[in-house]
Amino acid sequence: MKKQLISLIHQRLKELFTSYGIEDYGFIDVQVPPDKTNGDFSLNAAMKLAKAAKCAPQKLAAEMVARLETEKDWFSKVEMAGPGFINLYLADRVIENSFNELAARTVIVEQAPAGGEKTVVDYSSVNIAKQMHVGHLRSTIIGDVLARVIEELGNPVVRQNHLGDWGLPMAMVIWKAEPEIAAIEKRGVDLTSELTLARLEELYKSASAECKENPAAATACHDYLVQLQQGDKALLDLWHKIIRISMAEVYRIYRLLDVKLFEENERGESFYRDMLADTVAELGKSGKLVESQGAQCVFLEEFKGKDGSPLPVIVQKSDGGFNYGTFDLAGLRYRTATLGAQRIVYVTDARQALHFKQIFAVARAAGILAVPDVKPLKTRSGENVKLADLLSEAVERAYQVVNEKNPGLSEEQKQQVARTVGIGAVKYADLSQNRNNDYVFSFDRMLALNGNTAPYLQYAHARICSIFRRAGLNIDEFAAAAVISQREERDLMVKLMEFSAAVSAVAAELRPHILCNYLYELAVCFSAFYDKCPVLSCEDEKIKASRLMISSFTRRTLAKGLELLGISAPREM
Ligand code: ARG
Repeated sequence: MKKQLISLIHQRLKELFTSYGIEDYGFIDVQVPPDKTNGDFSLNAAMKLAKAAKCAPQKLAAEMVARLETEKDWFSKVEMAGPGFINLYLADRVIENSFNELAARTVIVEQAPAGGEKTVVDYSSVNIAKQMHVGHLRSTIIGDVLARVIEELGNPVVRQNHLGDWGLPMAMVIWKAEPEIAAIEKRGVDLTSELTLARLEELYKSASAECKENPAAATACHDYLVQLQQGDKALLDLWHKIIRISMAEVYRIYRLLDVKLFEENERGESFYRDMLADTVAELGKSGKLVESQGAQCVFLEEFKGKDGSPLPVIVQKSDGGFNYGTFDLAGLRYRTATLGAQRIVYVTDARQALHFKQIFAVARAAGILAVPDVKPLKTRSGENVKLADLLSEAVERAYQVVNEKNPGLSEEQKQQVARTVGIGAVKYADLSQNRNNDYVFSFDRMLALNGNTAPYLQYAHARICSIFRRAGLNIDEFAAAAVISQREERDLMVKLMEFSAAVSAVAAELRPHILCNYLYELAVCFSAFYDKCPVLSCEDEKIKASRLMISSFTRRTLAKGLELLGISAPREM
């Protein structure tokens, strides 16, 4: 919206300055000064214009100020600053018109041109037979928000859950779980209710320990892997059962977190199993493949070991098996060639930074990667805390907060709000930090009703709803013209007009905390407005209706913002 205001100003300036006999207005630079006391916008055109008009900058600036001052419909104040800068203060009318136009729209986020960019977002990407830990939380939550935001801006988004489901760990679990599964099935009971993900993880861990100590166990697991990868029916059947048990628990957590990943988004490593040989062959054709100690490798200049010798990226092992990276190379081909991705966003743990650097470099060198914009997102991981435990503790603690704040709610409502607030708080605590930062968990901080937290935003949302409830008005259908009678109304309206820019910035920089900061500032702005501008007790009917309108649009913006963050906005709490 600021952008729109700037282009409006541009247009008007263009008309005005024709009188200076200067045709080229492309360089008139309208800026938004960081500090409000410097006007809403500032113009640094005088210097450049002076050159073109061949006169002293300050003289020209003074002339321009005199000229612009007559534009009362546009500017409430115009002043010269420094050696030829001009500060512009927009007339209330301009803000009112732009705001009312925005508030009347059904879509409040500016849409990408021409159908947008087809974007693949690779996130969550959990491993089978392992419980999600806090490290996966970040990828899951951040990835989900990026997908929502990019989609909201009008870009087609394909969500991909790159499951770890086709490596040696799978063979190990199958090997260990086989007798247990057989016993359960023999008893004729339902497998999924008997065998849990936690148990599968235990089995995996004990298999892994056994393989380290006992070479026979290691050989057995390796044989299972080869047979599985060759398509052995019985093993594939067990493999499939283990995936479903594992994913059932993962989906329970996705639903709890309100993350938009479903079975149709599963594109695990196994999905690429028949594309691996082709991928290696393609690398071969590019001339980049080198055999080294029986393995197929790519050596690139930019990756060197400590002693300066080149580090290989192994795409096929000497035993014919494929590596973690080969799946990603095949994935890249599939995503670009088949899915038609124009942009691919990978949201993973920071520990995988080198892996992705190498994969992208290999893909570029081999010409697999025609798309320039591939970004691995580095997120720092947390300790090995079980995600499920953390979420239930957050909900329990949120219940205490709700119980204190609003004891009058029914038990059912309290539990509902506790879920919304608890889960929202955990997600927001993560999202509101710059993703490169370390992860510090504090339940007290994330559940605080004051400060940059989800409960604070949710509470602001609920408070606006309660104003309308008290007035007996339907907040979703309320419509009136907004007018400016006080500074706080104007500030809030301007802030509301910045929403779309904040959403675009998240998609451009892939940083959800930009939206969090925006929503927090918006809620603070609303608080200041609500303190200074009585709504229901306002005697002037026009101003009262206007304040209701500004409030209802604040609610709508907060709700949209929270929705993009995957956090519910309760109407009562
Ligand atoms: N499954 C991997 C892990 O949990 C993450 C996968 C990330 N995505 C990818 N395309 N490699 O460590």
